[in-house]
Amino acid sequence: MQEEERIAELRRTLHAHNHRYYVEAAPTISDREFDALLAELALLESARPDLADPNSPTRRVGGGFTDQFEKVAHSRPMLSLSNSYNREEVEDWASRIYKESAGETRFTCELKYDGVAIALQYENRQLVRALTRGDGAVGEDITTNVRTIRTIPLTLPQEAPEKLEIRGEIILPFEAFEALNAHRRQTGEKTFANPRNTAAGSLKLQDSSEVARRGLDCFLYSVLPDEGGAWRPGGHSDGVNAAQRWGFKTPLMLDRAFEIVTDVEGVMAFLAHWDEARTQLPFAIDGVVMKVDGYAQRKTLGSTAKAPRWALAFKFETEQGITRLERIAYQVGRTGAITPVAHLEPVPIAGTTVSKASLHNADQIALLDIREGDMVRVEKGGEIIPKVVGVILDERPANSAPHSYATHCPDCGASLARAEDEARHYCPNAEGCPEQIKGRIEHFAARRAMNIDGLGSEGVEQLWAAGMIRDVADLYDLERAPLLTLDRMGEKRAGNLLAGISASKEVPFERVLFGLGIRHVGETVAKKLARHFGDVESLRGADEAALLQLDVVGPVIAESLVHWFAEATNRQLLERLVHAGLKFTAEQDPGVQGSQVLEGRSFVVSGVFSIPRDELKRLVERHGGRLLGGVSGKTDFLIAGEKMGPAKREKAERLGVSILTESAFFEMIGS
Ligand code: IVH
Repeated sequence: MQEEERIAELRRTLHAHNHRYYVEAAPTISDREFDALLAELALLESARPDLADPNSPTRRVGGGFTDQFEKVAHSRPMLSLSNSYNREEVEDWASRIYKESAGETRFTCELKYDGVAIALQYENRQLVRALTRGDGAVGEDITTNVRTIRTIPLTLPQEAPEKLEIRGEIILPFEAFEALNAHRRQTGEKTFANPRNTAAGSLKLQDSSEVARRGLDCFLYSVLPDEGGAWRPGGHSDGVNAAQRWGFKTPLMLDRAFEIVTDVEGVMAFLAHWDEARTQLPFAIDGVVMKVDGYAQRKTLGSTAKAPRWALAFKFETEQGITRLERIAYQVGRTGAITPVAHLEPVPIAGTTVSKASLHNADQIALLDIREGDMVRVEKGGEIIPKVVGVILDERPANSAPHSYATHCPDCGASLARAEDEARHYCPNAEGCPEQIKGRIEHFAARRAMNIDGLGSEGVEQLWAAGMIRDVADLYDLERAPLLTLDRMGEKRAGNLLAGISASKEVPFERVLFGLGIRHVGETVAKKLARHFGDVESLRGADEAALLQLDVVGPVIAESLVHWFAEATNRQLLERLVHAGLKFTAEQDPGVQGSQVLEGRSFVVSGVFSIPRDELKRLVERHGGRLLGGVSGKTDFLIAGEKMGPAKREKAERLGVSILTESAFFEMIGS
């Protein structure tokens, strides 16, 4: 096949797989196969700069760098919505429109996504421009950043109109928000306050490859047909249905998130449903939106200067409840972290009965002067766990006394410790505090670590109570006969448990490392450590400076690791686990045997990677590639790590040099 055809085919295939993975959440090939196709495309594109395409799937990882976002006028003004916090108002509004139309109105009801508005302009079925709302008349061009959002199609199928504008909301799902903050906490960066601000800030980043990593998502809420074009949908729902077929992520994909109703009762039922169900969504909404469906009817109703008369947003109040704080209790986690928990007189909030709420930490309790016996305000926002947000001082009992924060561990009684710059207290008795030890064993056995079937929290509790386990290494000494003396432990369960424990010996080093539960060593860090150091001996020998070489390791993690390996009990534990036959060596280093797949290609390596840069360079050479000192017209590929300077990226882009991420490079060499 000709290069040109293959490039076109790969682009089509990859766009389709991208849609199946991100929009439909139903991939048909593995990540590895996807990366391999992407690497093939990157390679071909590097050979044919004349076929460069800003909407190629290779651009999803970012790479573009924007100094200043250009201001561009909107094709049609981006209006706001009239808001209401009052159900009667919504009912009145809908009834009036319904009556005026002699009962002929169809309303579409949808969610009010709490994110950032975006206008996506397509010409010749290609995404050509993405504009922020700005002041409604003029927005900012953030196309390069928006291209990295996987749920936004970059090209549209043949049946889509040639020219089209789609408007929607860019959001950051809770999971991505939490992951981002967890990472920032580890690297000592300031955390973000909420998903909406984070989404807004992310879209204005200069480095689009950073935007690509943030995990943004987009929901469409308006489809604007080209005024002179042939496609003339009768109403909003026609537009949304069509857009769904053309590859956009629409609310039709979510249960009850887009409903067409034909009466006022339908509107109110939708509102009532989401007022409760909103806490279950994986992203934030701040209300629901009701719109007249038919375009002809919309035209009759018209707009004010600010907002259309055919739509109304109902905004949810953050749900609060007031109840008595009976007691402040404390929980100990597996890392020894102490969490204060408010035990409340049960109170209904947003559809559930709340009897416990978070109190954050000692500072927060002192700041709000929260006392046992107080009437407190409890809030349930987008978050799953309700929190105490205030005290009603007028109702404070006369005999109340300021709360004195726990000084000792509620489980083992040890004196609590607190690092100067940390908000949390810790139980320092890592070796002797039963809650911590049980927590660590549970974590070790969990699916994402050693995946020991049949060993959940109850199982750990039972083995602990029987005195059969005191640390994770004891699991590997368990024998059938004593197990059979336990309650509810028949041949079958005992057999399953022992088989699960035995199977865990095949779990790769990176997950063993994660399973050890070293403070701040999550899955990603464990994976990178395993890959970088290769085995536990080298990791144990590494000092802080050596650990800081890894991009995911900051001072906090480095110190935690050095400290963990210095403890005598941990060293003994490791020895027993090695003896039990667990894997403490990473699978073969990628690319130990060389190939010649990179022959004739030249590379520049820049930035920070998960392996030392020199090692990456050796891999290039081992596979037949040639290394160059700087980006020039002779460079085929720039392998871009984190923290690579913007000048280099710009130059590479100007010269049409293909920019590869580390993982794309590994795919290229087949590892
Ligand atoms: S329709 C003219 N639908 O809310 C009507 N807007 O306050 C245009 N928003 O700027 C907006 N979810 O960013 C519409 N389902 C939804 C929405 C939605 C969120 C945002 C949008 C708009 C703002 C208006």
